[in-house]
Amino acid sequence: MAQQILKGKKGIIFGALDERSIAWSTALKAVEAGAEIVLTNAPIAMRMGKINELAKLCNNAPVIPADATSVADLENLLQKSMEHFGGKIDFVLHSIGMSPNVRKAIPYTDTNYDNFLKTLDISALSLHKLLQSCMKMDALNEWASVIALTYIAAQRTFPGYNDMAEAKALMESIARSFGYHYGFAKKVRVNTVSQSPTITTAGSGVSGFDAFFTYADKMSPLGNATGEQCANFCIAMFSDYTKMVTMQNLFHDGGFSNTGVSNGIVEEMQKAAMASENANS
Ligand SMILES: NC(=O)c1ccc[n+]([C@@H]2O[C@H](COP(=O)([O-])OP(=O)(O)OC[C@H]3O[C@@H](n4cnc5c(N)ncnc54)[C@H](O)[C@@H]3O)[C@@H](O)[C@H]2O)c1
Repeated sequence: MAQQILKGKKGIIFGALDERSIAWSTALKAVEAGAEIVLTNAPIAMRMGKINELAKLCNNAPVIPADATSVADLENLLQKSMEHFGGKIDFVLHSIGMSPNVRKAIPYTDTNYDNFLKTLDISALSLHKLLQSCMKMDALNEWASVIALTYIAAQRTFPGYNDMAEAKALMESIARSFGYHYGFAKKVRVNTVSQSPTITTAGSGVSGFDAFFTYADKMSPLGNATGEQCANFCIAMFSDYTKMVTMQNLFHDGGFSNTGVSNGIVEEMQKAAMASENANS
């Protein structure tokens, strides 16, 4: 039985589509750790996904649809969640990402700007809309913890990640800026968790995903972090054990972000060079 490090806490989990979603594991682990939760996702994901199955596994958690780009939806979600909990909220997981350009395989250098704006709205501005709604409605308890999931393409170029790289860079900046304001105003902390490539619906939509999943695994001293391990880290971040951490981008990536090259990758390159020499001789 997991330690009850979230006992008495109440939280909202965005973005659980199916069992592979990082939000799915986080919801299960939050409940295991003693929290009460509300689940939410975009109305379309309610029809396509399996969120109602998850709700049953989470002590019949309420499922409240919200398009994260709609302030009205977010306000409704916060209002109904507070009514359900009979009080304010202690933690929020923002686990939302979508790029129409990625989905339609439109190259970065031939981007469609309407799509680009949607990418930014869904994947980045939604965090600002969420935090601003929380602040206006005074929906978060003091020392509440807000986590948004991100990827290292915000700092370094991964060509297949397309305009999601800009979205993640913007989202990380929003977390820092809002973290400053919310920290002084209410001691609310806001952080981003930069996760290893993970096989999920959003992850595997990125072109060349399988190759860079393997590449990242070989580069990282600890290997790729799984979605479940990411969920564990989020639980720690929601708990009181991490109270003084805010405005950070926290790499949860098995050491990938600080590795220049690994022996495993060098060996792969040597093997490929030898194979090409043999083929040419
Ligand atoms: N999978 C990876 O390799 C990886 C790596 C690092 C970070 N992340 C990030 O983790 C988060 C969760 O993604 P995942 O990999 O679990 O994939 P996922 O596809 O399971 O989750 C993405 C979620 O975003 C939701 N969403 C899309 N548009 C929305 C909207 N308008 N309103 C509300 N919700 C909306 C989807 O319905 C879905 O549930 C994303 O922010 C993603 O960028 C993923």
